[in-house]
Amino acid sequence: MIDTHCHLNDAQFDNDVDLVIDRLTSGGVEAVVCVGWDFKSSVKAREISDLNDNVYYAIGVHPDECDDYNQFEMEDLLRLKSSKLVAVGEIGLDYYHNKDNKFRQMEVFESQISLANKYKLPIIIHCRDAFGDMLTILKKYAPFKYGAVMHCYSGSLEYAKEIIKLGIRISFTGSVTFKNATNLHEVAKNIPLDSFFFETDSPYLTPEPNRGKRNEPIYVFDVAKAVAKLRGIDEDKLIELTDKNAKGFFRI
Ligand code: NI
Repeated sequence: MIDTHCHLNDAQFDNDVDLVIDRLTSGGVEAVVCVGWDFKSSVKAREISDLNDNVYYAIGVHPDECDDYNQFEMEDLLRLKSSKLVAVGEIGLDYYHNKDNKFRQMEVFESQISLANKYKLPIIIHCRDAFGDMLTILKKYAPFKYGAVMHCYSGSLEYAKEIIKLGIRISFTGSVTFKNATNLHEVAKNIPLDSFFFETDSPYLTPEPNRGKRNEPIYVFDVAKAVAKLRGIDEDKLIELTDKNAKGFFRI
């Protein structure tokens, strides 16, 4: 089982990251991707990856942090990457938190897409309340030769179909386990089996039945379980398939 997106570099894990990694390893999570959201957290993701065989990492500047984006700083991290750097992310657009800096967000997003292409890496996309502008940018850069995934998917089924046509993958978090997430359930039921995989986005978005607690990678099984149930297929079979998708995508 692969957790394709977690933040072991978040301060919420500072006191017990080793225990969290022990739990995921002994619980059957084969590998995780620890994802950065700014320069500092990207450096920290690399450090955690260096110390743990099954932790891969991604570096990127999240739209909320776009004011602090420095292309040269990020490019240094790419030049000095280890073999376990698997993506540029998380990058994208977020108009939920701030819509007064749309142009800056788009500029920073596009700059990082170009860096990912230059270093032949896939991108991990964050998109919240910005689906229109996102689609315009995705169409401009598609097809993504090195891959692109929209993480923590929260859009409609129609939108999912549209971006899958552009060659973009979808990744589901614990949100899909929430009873009232009916739109997301439709997405999980209807998109092709080879177009998605799973993540926790921990320490956030803890899946049922642990909702309310701090999230951690071992709970990725609950995300897979919910989607298997929605699709009416065997959980182990689904995990086998989505792991294959994720490994191919991140070249793990
Ligand atoms: Ni995240």
